[in-house]
Amino acid sequence: MKITEQIKQPIDFEMELFEQKFRLSMSSKVALLNRITHYIVNRKGKQMRPMFVFLVAKMVSNGEISERTYRGASVIELIHTATLVHDDVVDDSNQRRGFFSINALWKNKIAVLIGDFLLSKGLLLSIDNNDFDLLKIISIAVREMSEGELLQIEKARKLDITESVYYDIIRQKTATLIAACCSLGAASVRPNTQAVETMRRFGELIGMAFQIKDDLFDYGTQSIGKPTGIDIKEQKMTLPLIHVLNTVSKKDKNWLINSIKNHNKDKKRVNEVIKFVKKNGGLEYAVSKMKFFQSEAFKILQNYPESEYKKALELMVNYVIDRKK
Ligand code: IPE
Ligand code: IPE
Ligand code: MG
Ligand code: MG
Repeated sequence: MKITEQIKQPIDFEMELFEQKFRLSMSSKVALLNRITHYIVNRKGKQMRPMFVFLVAKMVSNGEISERTYRGASVIELIHTATLVHDDVVDDSNQRRGFFSINALWKNKIAVLIGDFLLSKGLLLSIDNNDFDLLKIISIAVREMSEGELLQIEKARKLDITESVYYDIIRQKTATLIAACCSLGAASVRPNTQAVETMRRFGELIGMAFQIKDDLFDYGTQSIGKPTGIDIKEQKMTLPLIHVLNTVSKKDKNWLINSIKNHNKDKKRVNEVIKFVKKNGGLEYAVSKMKFFQSEAFKILQNYPESEYKKALELMVNYVIDRKK
């Protein structure tokens, strides 16, 4: 059995019902909106975030979840989708999930409005059902994500990012939402318990590993359903490059910075930079840090009693760093 099928086995029923609810949660009276949201739901991603919500909820409650859990999963996936639509505008990327991005097909104006629509649909789903505790978790994540994206832009302009700022960025732009999945999963069934904070921390750690993996993909050549090699083009410095900048000679460092600053749209030069980063151990270093975050997440799980849900979460923790897309 494929690893993703194994992970989903204890939540098969929930994921199927979730998909129906998720589809409905996007509906609108405006025809253009419906056309675009259909386009989006028919090209679904890995759905890792709702999987985290259900697995964590079931692990901390011995399998009994509620409508709150379903709503929480839908809200998170709506927010995630909204941020991807916006992210492709920000990153000027024309491909997502193996298809054209929304901005590529309908232009930036429409993509911005679609993202706002999805975001508001998510927030309203919580408000209309009085899930205010869940809404708080989600709203904090949305704020953090916007701050993280802006911090990233600021650093791309100044090209002065350090390793510790890199961790701040990925914590804010990516890990907070996965942290929100896990704390919300716990809060949906066991509000006001220690599990909510413990699971937030678990999600944050695994979210850090998740984004380092995503940044490693950018150095690869495999087809992952979105463009690779665009980070340097966008002057986005990620862990492999940051590490190499910290370890090479002054001369090489100047060449790297100059390449990123002044030749970032030159394909040949960008490829030379990528080669240089690979030759100088940048990828290995990033992999070691990714594994560190993964093992810290693993430790947290070990405090929970054995169950099929815990087992699936363990598989998920491995999947985050072994995945092929
Ligand atoms: C992509 O997330 C955005 C990042 C935070 C790196 P996913 O890789 O989970 O995207 P989908 O939903 O599977 O397409
Ligand atoms: C992740 O950013 C998306 C958000 C957290 C908003 P990236 O720009 O690194 O992700 P991909 O590679 O486009 O999915
Ligand atoms: Mg981005
Ligand atoms: Mg992007």
